[in-house]
Amino acid sequence: MKTRNISFSYTEHDNIEELAGEDKELIVAAKDASVNAYAPYSGFRVGAAVRLSNREIVKGANVENAAYPSGICAERNALGNSVTNFPGEKVIAIAIAASGKDESIDDHISPCGMCRQVIAEEESRNGHEIRIILAGSNKILIINSISDLLPLQFNKDNLRIALP
Ligand code: THU
Repeated sequence: MKTRNISFSYTEHDNIEELAGEDKELIVAAKDASVNAYAPYSGFRVGAAVRLSNREIVKGANVENAAYPSGICAERNALGNSVTNFPGEKVIAIAIAASGKDESIDDHISPCGMCRQVIAEEESRNGHEIRIILAGSNKILIINSISDLLPLQFNKDNLRIALP
């Protein structure tokens, strides 16, 4: 038997001014997107902004539904929009921010399991890492790759043996 250990490093920033201009811009876009969320059931508004290799930014917000499981998260909406509108471009970063009914939510939030899987698909087809920026009001976390949030992931390499 072997016991293996998985650990990862990320950066934590107390001040948005510590970040590069492009990252600041991406966070502002994620916050802007959260304003457009349709979240009448949870009141929890989430915005995501994707940075592409051509420097474009593509936004998404969570869109809920009276049939609850039909709702979709901000991250998956942003990634679906970027794949649809910029099929040739690679995703290099995604920023995520949340706000409440009337005010911003101070805490950073981390993508749900399903969104992690979708970010992982993008990263594996990209062939390079996607930086994940978790933007709270007082603290910003920057993670280098979805592999850090979804270790031992299932991806297209596992399907290799089944595909022609
Ligand atoms: N939500 C997101 O859009 N992204 C996340 O990372 C976590 C949760 C949405 C789903 C639902 O509309 C609301 O937030 C409450 O869970």
